[in-house]
Amino acid sequence: MGGQAKSVVARGVAALVLAGLLGLSAGAGIPTPEAKGIILSKTCPPGFARVDGRTCELRSLYQMYASLEDQGVGGLKTGLPEFRDGFTPQQIDLGRYLFFDPILSVDGSLSCASCHDPELGFGDGRGRSVGVTGEEVPRSAPSLWNVGFLKSFFWDARASTLEEQMQGPLYASGEMGNTRDNLLATLKASPAWQKLFAEAFNRNEGDITLDEIYSGLAAFQTSLISLNSRYDQYAHGYHAALTPEEIEGLNVFRSFVARCAECHTPPLFTNQQIAVLGTPEPAGMPRDIGAAGPFEDETMRGGFKVPSLRNVAKTAPYMHSGRFGTLRETVEFYTQGRGHAVPEGEKLNIHWHIWEPKLTDDELDRLVDFLGTLTDESFTPREPARVPSGLTPGGRKAAPDEGVAKTAAIINSSRQPDQHQRGKQTP
Ligand code: HEC
Ligand code: HEC
Repeated sequence: MGGQAKSVVARGVAALVLAGLLGLSAGAGIPTPEAKGIILSKTCPPGFARVDGRTCELRSLYQMYASLEDQGVGGLKTGLPEFRDGFTPQQIDLGRYLFFDPILSVDGSLSCASCHDPELGFGDGRGRSVGVTGEEVPRSAPSLWNVGFLKSFFWDARASTLEEQMQGPLYASGEMGNTRDNLLATLKASPAWQKLFAEAFNRNEGDITLDEIYSGLAAFQTSLISLNSRYDQYAHGYHAALTPEEIEGLNVFRSFVARCAECHTPPLFTNQQIAVLGTPEPAGMPRDIGAAGPFEDETMRGGFKVPSLRNVAKTAPYMHSGRFGTLRETVEFYTQGRGHAVPEGEKLNIHWHIWEPKLTDDELDRLVDFLGTLTDESFTPREPARVPSGLTPGGRKAAPDEGVAKTAAIINSSRQPDQHQRGKQTP
């Protein structure tokens, strides 16, 4: 251990000297020696209890409610779908460092957080994300809140586990652009990463495996729990948590006229199915066939996974390619008539719950009010001040779409730094 620590310091010092000679400042991509001090958290994230002295298990008031359908679709006291837990605190924290370390991309420029930014509801505020090549990918980055409850991943539901999903961005040339061999080689070459993997998987330092990388990232993502919004407080029986306008919005949302809750079913606000809505694409973008691709089924043409609406006020722009800039526009889409945005000649099998609810302007406003009650970021994990590679934590971020950037600036300026954040963790 001692020898290794010394060699890390030596390497770090050499890098600093080199950086000094080249006139570069630390943080501009030159590894620094600081990473050697990183220690993984030994406590479960908030919302989790430690069982068997080892693994973290989710605790939520919703676990008191027995069934998904207890009080009908859209009922307040309905239970949660099955959840993926059972990771150790160290594995979850290892995942946090992996998530924010741009060493995961081929050129050290992008981390998962580049496109899934905690400040932007774990999206990137863009209609289409930007990968290592600087080009846009065809779809928007979904929020990652509550992904531990999901049975399928991506807008077209083409992956069925988090581990399978992450191999998309990691190895796609237009996203993080890495290869399996290069990813393993870079992590193995890092003494700081070697030490953390050994700590997380309770083994001696040695070979890091792809499975360990995937488990760590999955563990961290399952810790992103958002189930304590004002809506939740209301659902658990505290009626004063919502204003009369917001309750009105909830009632429209659950009504047989609007039918929102048929697909965006509480408490996750998704029934996890694929639905064809006939959402328009942004100007100039080709039609996205959605789930018809992976499932090779034409009836799913233009079908997308029903997104959860948790923290939706933070994740503009909306829909699979960001066609709508605001929640008001998005909600209005539903009342403009079944198939109104489908181009001529395009045959879509639009879902039977999409029709013409003829909602009034007032009702649309109340729906937007209600959607704002689904915000809860109290368990936002802390972004590490430094990552094991010594690269810039979080990596490069593409600028959010214009309207989104403005709104985020207003929200963030009114927020106190570090309020609500995980206190016990190292950097
Ligand atoms: C270049 C931007 C970018 C990077 C980097 C990126 N993602 Fe994503 N992510 C996206 C986009 C875009 C989608 C949706 C793609 C689709 O549906 O076809 C997505 C989808 C996902 C989903 C599916 C969520 C759902 O509800 O279906 C998860 C989970 C996810 N990403 C996790 C990760 C992790 C973990 C990493 C790091 C290994 C990562 N992403 C890196 C842009 C990115
Ligand atoms: C038939 C199922 C269904 C019904 C009914 C439905 N939605 Fe959706 N909703 C979806 C799907 C699928 C998407 C994603 C569509 C896409 O990306 O093209 C979506 C997207 C959204 C989004 C954008 C979320 C994001 O992260 O981009 C909002 C907001 C939304 N719906 C609100 C509502 C409201 C309010 C109602 C009731 C007026 C409603 N939905 C009714 C299936 C449904």
